[in-house]
Order: sequence, then structure tokens, then C-alpha cells
Amino acid sequence: MIESASKEIIMIDRIDTIKAEVESFESLNVEEIEQFRIRMLGRKGLITNLFKDFKEVPAEQKKEIGQKLNQLKVLANNKVEELNQKASRQKEADQKEDKPDLTMPANFVEPGSRHPISIVRNQINSIFARIGYVISEGPEIENDWHNFSALNFPENHPARDMQDTFFIEKTPDITLRTHTSSVQVRVMENTQPPVRTISPGRVFRNEAISARAHCIFHQVEGLYVDEDVSFADLKQTLYYFAREMFGSETKTRFRPSFFPFTEPSAEMDISCTLCGGSGCTMCKYSGWVEILGCGMVDPNVLDNCNIDSKKYTGFAFGMGIERVAALKYQINDLRLFFENDVRFLKQFEAVL
Ligand code: PHE
Repeated sequence: MIESASKEIIMIDRIDTIKAEVESFESLNVEEIEQFRIRMLGRKGLITNLFKDFKEVPAEQKKEIGQKLNQLKVLANNKVEELNQKASRQKEADQKEDKPDLTMPANFVEPGSRHPISIVRNQINSIFARIGYVISEGPEIENDWHNFSALNFPENHPARDMQDTFFIEKTPDITLRTHTSSVQVRVMENTQPPVRTISPGRVFRNEAISARAHCIFHQVEGLYVDEDVSFADLKQTLYYFAREMFGSETKTRFRPSFFPFTEPSAEMDISCTLCGGSGCTMCKYSGWVEILGCGMVDPNVLDNCNIDSKKYTGFAFGMGIERVAALKYQINDLRLFFENDVRFLKQFEAVL
């Protein structure tokens, strides 16, 4: 009797001790939780052992102790399950936090590239900056004075015609500029010589779009006005430009031409960038390709801009950036510059 009573007390004691341990156990470490489960509920676990010893509990105590034992087992099972759930929620939260998973494959970042027109414009700008030219910009929507009249275009010059010029609706005085010479008029109106400037920018002409022409294109025009500026200065400057842009082997030649705002006027050719002058399809077997228009600023233009044409002379030149880029990269269709096909643009990735 005594013996069985003490067994019962020992049993209850053990249950209470183990219960306290189960209740106080805390961990979010999955391995620790598993060790705890094995220690309590494994094949040789503390609770499992209690069930083995339960056989020896006298019949009249079985009900009470059995209940306690079952409650302890449920308690331990619940604890394990609850801690495992907590641990996996914690793991998810940790992953969501800004802890990068270094084992993930890297995101592919597509590098952008400059448009060939921007690349060539920047090159032209920098070639002229090295000999003291500053950059000037002006509006793309211009009035007749800056685009034509100040530049000595006679009243009925065909370039003012609807065929070449886009007029802003119902105001024939306002146009989309057809060249960036308009910017140079603005510069001369506001500055006394010496003037040494280039004007890069977008220009507009009412032309049918083809491989050789577009209604929007880009120009860089240059202007140098000072005392004693001569045609020799013009030639030397443009010769320097051609060699910097197309390589030191490049030859230049000047052909007489006509522009209302320059007198004398010329067009400059360079030796063909593809065959070097021996003749190919690009230069139509002439060995030369046209690159720009130029000339000595007409005294009327200087006077129109309040610059004393008796004291000062100047030269001007203008080129299409598309044309320079086409020659440099051997592109035979100007439309490629405007279509923005990435297969075309990607080829300029490595160039700044
Ligand atoms: N403005 C001319 C054009 O658009 C180019 C040019 C500029 C010619 C300066 C001579 C001098 O075609």
C-alpha cells in the first residue's frame, strides 16, 4: 500500500517536472525543436517512458494519472507543432526582409547605348571645342527673319517655297527652322566679334522620306567672324575637322557652289571613307563624297545683324549629322537613324 502510494507520488512528481520543462521550452531553431521532441516523445523519451511506467500504477490511480499523462503528451505535441510553425514563419519573414539570397541567379540588366546621331554630334562638338568654338542653341520654331530674311534670302527664293519649308498653320511668318543658320543670326545680333560658335540642332524640311532624305534631320553649323578672316582660314579649319573626324589620311577638296548667305560659297568633299579614293559604289567611283556647304559670310548678313561688314569678315559652314554618321559608319539608308530598331542601335553600345 505504502509502496503503491509512493509510486503514485513519484509519478505525479515526474509528470509535473516534465510539464514545467515542456511549458518553459522556447526555441525557433528547427534542430533544437526536433531534439526537444525526441527528448520528450521519442522512443526513449521522457514522456514515452512515463507511459511505460504507467503499467505499474495501481488500478484505482490509473484514471487520474492516465488523464494527467495524456494531457502532458498533448501539451508536448502542441508545443512542438506550435514552435515549428513559428520557426517557419520567422524563416519566411527573414527571407522577405532585405537579406539577399546570394544563390539566386543574377537579374540580367540590358545596357543602353547612345544613338549614333548623338555620338557623332558629340564628336563634332568636341573637335570644334578644341579650337575655341562655343556651342549655341536656338528655337526649332523660327520666324521668317531669322530663318530667311536676315540670311539674305531674296523675297521669292525657292527655299521659302511650300515645298521646302513647314509653315506653322495660318502664320506664314512662323516656320519650323530649315537650318541652324538661324541660331547664328541670333548669336550675331547679340554679340560683337570675335564670334566663334557652332550650332548643333534638329531641322525640318518638307521632303519625301527615302534612303537619302528625311523631313527631320540634324545639323551642325559653324560661324567665325573677326577682323581679317579669310577663305584660307575656312579651308584650314575644315581640313582640320575632316582629318579629326575621318582620320589623318583624309583628303579634302572644295567645289564652287551657291548659298544666299555666303559669297563666295563652296561645297567640301572628302576622299571616300570606304575606298580611300580609289573608287567604289559609295562614292559612285569618283573617289570623293560631299560632306558640307560653306563660304564667306555675305556682307549683307553681317549688316543685317548689326555687325560692321567694313571692319569684319567671317566664314560659315553647315553639315548634316546624319550624313557624317552615314559616312563614318557606312550606313546606306538614313531611315535607320529614325526607326530606333534596337538591332541597329545595339551596334553602337561600345561607343561613347
Ligand atoms: N545652311 C546651309 C544648309 O542648310 C549650310 C551652309 C551653312 C552653307 C553655312 C554655307 C554656309 O544647307
